[in-house]
Amino acid sequence: MINRRLLNIIFILLLLLSAKTIAAGQDGGNDSSLIKNDRNDVQKIKVLIVYQSKYGSTKQYAQWIHQEIKADLVNIENGDKPDPAGYDIIVIGGSVRIGNIVVAPFIKEHWSVMKGKKVVLFTTSATPPQHPKIQSIYEKSLPEEIRKEIKYFPLPGRISTENLTLFDQLLIAIGKIMEQDETLKKDMGKDFDGVRRENLLPLLEYLEDVKSILAGKK
Ligand SMILES: Cc1cc2nc3c(=O)[nH]c(=O)nc-3n(C[C@H](O)[C@H](O)[C@H](O)COP(=O)(O)O)c2cc1C
Repeated sequence: MINRRLLNIIFILLLLLSAKTIAAGQDGGNDSSLIKNDRNDVQKIKVLIVYQSKYGSTKQYAQWIHQEIKADLVNIENGDKPDPAGYDIIVIGGSVRIGNIVVAPFIKEHWSVMKGKKVVLFTTSATPPQHPKIQSIYEKSLPEEIRKEIKYFPLPGRISTENLTLFDQLLIAIGKIMEQDETLKKDMGKDFDGVRRENLLPLLEYLEDVKSILAGKK
C-alpha cells in the first residue's frame, strides 16, 4: 500500500518535471540543449577586426563593432601584422585618402588567405558614402575578383583641421584645387563629424546573419 502511494508520488513528480522542461524549451529558456548548441556554434565563429586609422574615426567604428561582437581587434596603423588565416569572418576598416582606400593593399596582400572566408570592408570618408565617387574609388582600389566576394559598407568619417598634420592640411588644400565636383569642392577643408554609432546598424545586422549561417554549417 505504502509502496503504491510512493510510486504515485514519484510518477507525479516526474510528470511535473518533464512539463517544466518542455515549457523552458518553448519559451526560449537557456536550459534547452538545442539553444545551448546554437550559442556554442555561434561562439565558435572566429572574427578578426582589422583597422587602420590616422585620426581616430575608423578606430571609433572598429571599437563600436568590437563592443557588439566577440572578436580580436588589431590596429595595423602602427605596423601590427595580423594573420587572417585562423578566422572565419574578417572585418576590415580604413579611410579614403587622396582617392584611395588605405586598407586596399592589406586586402590584396592577404587575399589568397582570405578568399573563401566572409570578408566585410568598411571605409570612412569626407565624401558622403552614397556619392558615386565613393563607388568609383572602391572599384579603382580593388579588382572585381575581390569585390564580388566581399561586402562593402561606406560610412561617414570626420575631419578636424586643427588635428591634421601640416602635410595633410597641404594635401587637402591641393585636393580642393583639383576637385571637379563643385559641391564636394565647396565642402572640402571644412570641419565635419559624421561618425555615429547608428551608422553601423546595417553592418552589424549583416554580421549577425553571417554568423548564424556559418554556425549552421559548423
Ligand atoms: C590627407 C587627407 C586626404 C583625404 N582624402 C580624402 C579623399 O580623397 N576622399 C574622401 O572622401 N575623404 C578624404 N579624406 C577624409 C578622410 O577619409 C576622413 O577624414 C576619415 O574620417 C579619416 O579617417 P581616420 O580618422 O580613421 O584617419 C582625407 C583626409 C585627409 C587627412
